[in-house]
Amino acid sequence: MAERFRVVGGTALRGEVAVWGAKNSALKLMAVALLAVGRTRLTNVPAILDVTIMAELLRRLGCTVDYDAPSGVVEIDVPEKIGHRADYDLVRALRASTAVLGPLVARTGSADVAVPGGDAIGSRGLDLHAAGLEALGASVHVTHGFLVAEAPRGLDGAEIRLDFPSVGATENVLTAAVLARGTTRLENAAREPEIADIAAMLTSMGAQISGAGTSVIEVHGVDSLTAIEHAVVPDRIAAGTWAFAASATRGDVEVVGANSDHLVAALELVEASGATVTDTPRGFRVDSGGRRPRAFDVATLPYPGFPTDLQPFALACNAVAEGSAMITENLFEARFRTVQELNRLGAETRIDGHHVMVHGVERLSGAPVEASDIRAGAALVIAGLVADGVTTVSGAQHIDRGYAGFAESMQGLGADVTREPDDDPFL
Ligand code: UD1
Repeated sequence: MAERFRVVGGTALRGEVAVWGAKNSALKLMAVALLAVGRTRLTNVPAILDVTIMAELLRRLGCTVDYDAPSGVVEIDVPEKIGHRADYDLVRALRASTAVLGPLVARTGSADVAVPGGDAIGSRGLDLHAAGLEALGASVHVTHGFLVAEAPRGLDGAEIRLDFPSVGATENVLTAAVLARGTTRLENAAREPEIADIAAMLTSMGAQISGAGTSVIEVHGVDSLTAIEHAVVPDRIAAGTWAFAASATRGDVEVVGANSDHLVAALELVEASGATVTDTPRGFRVDSGGRRPRAFDVATLPYPGFPTDLQPFALACNAVAEGSAMITENLFEARFRTVQELNRLGAETRIDGHHVMVHGVERLSGAPVEASDIRAGAALVIAGLVADGVTTVSGAQHIDRGYAGFAESMQGLGADVTREPDDDPFL
């Protein structure tokens, strides 16, 4: 049964909210486990459907996976011999399944990974992933909807320069290079904290990596890796979500378990909106002082720039801010889906290519809207909090993929947000 979020507007978020490990790290770390025979234990794993899907992918490859969602622990037993195929049903449900590409080629000498289809947030190719593996000596081709990478005699270290600092391509090159012969030097690598997290786990498994978290990563290949225990890096996107939510709703929120060092660009804009951001022993606090946010311009960029995943929240905050702002999306083509729905709530916006002009209004006006992806959905719930009356956000399952217990977290901050069946007769 489809569900939606029901939001009663008018509450300033107040109190504390916890963030778990990053979805975009946890899924990749599960793929990294494939590189070592034995039992890997991941902690601080978020309780979201995507982890269940990745667990199923690993099981189909021959692993035994125990996922205890409430305690945030995933245990993966990897046998000596594993499969090398990621089926389309899984890749379609979870694009991050493509993270098994690097580990599978490195461990088994071949990988058949279904090519993801159209994505709700713009076209996202695998060309850089393929080029990186080819540079390491794999032969790569696409057949019957699968990207097939083969390196029967193993991989060789190489000098690689990515045309764009793609997060996924950096990860697949890194996870392939750790077992390659010789040295790999990866230039124009993505610098996201999730990359540094993967490198940290690989290093405790015995890999030799330097420079992860910078644009140049060097890897000295080793013969084998050892299964270990690792805690997932805090979810900076979930933390940023609550930061903008605090400012938009004129609230005061402590985000527990967050690391503000991973959110410098975003928190600068939260401050530009007029809120005060302070580090606390357990995370950070965003206090709006009860004031209406001021408008602030945003341009998304690869890390350490402003994250594209937080752009919908900057949009929602600006929709009720004093003044006008320009939001520029530099990473994904179609990531302005939030805009049409925000307009249904009374936002004043104008899209021009990859820019959106937002003219803030004092309050939005509650209405039924639809979540098209994780972040857009969560941003619409926040918009509902600053709208008069009731807003319903259909497509609750999208929000569930990024936020464990989103309604409960909202309720903990005093908001009237509940789930209900979506009884739209035309769904
Ligand atoms: C990851 C995150 C996603 C985030 C994004 C950018 C996961 C599961 N997802 O996605 O939430 O929004 O980083 O921070 O970690 N590109 C190509 N060819 C390629 C690879 C990428 O053209 O081979 C393009 C994409 O179309 C896109 C841009 O590069 O326009 C960024 O993609 P990338 O950094 O690879 O993001 P993802 O790893 O897919």
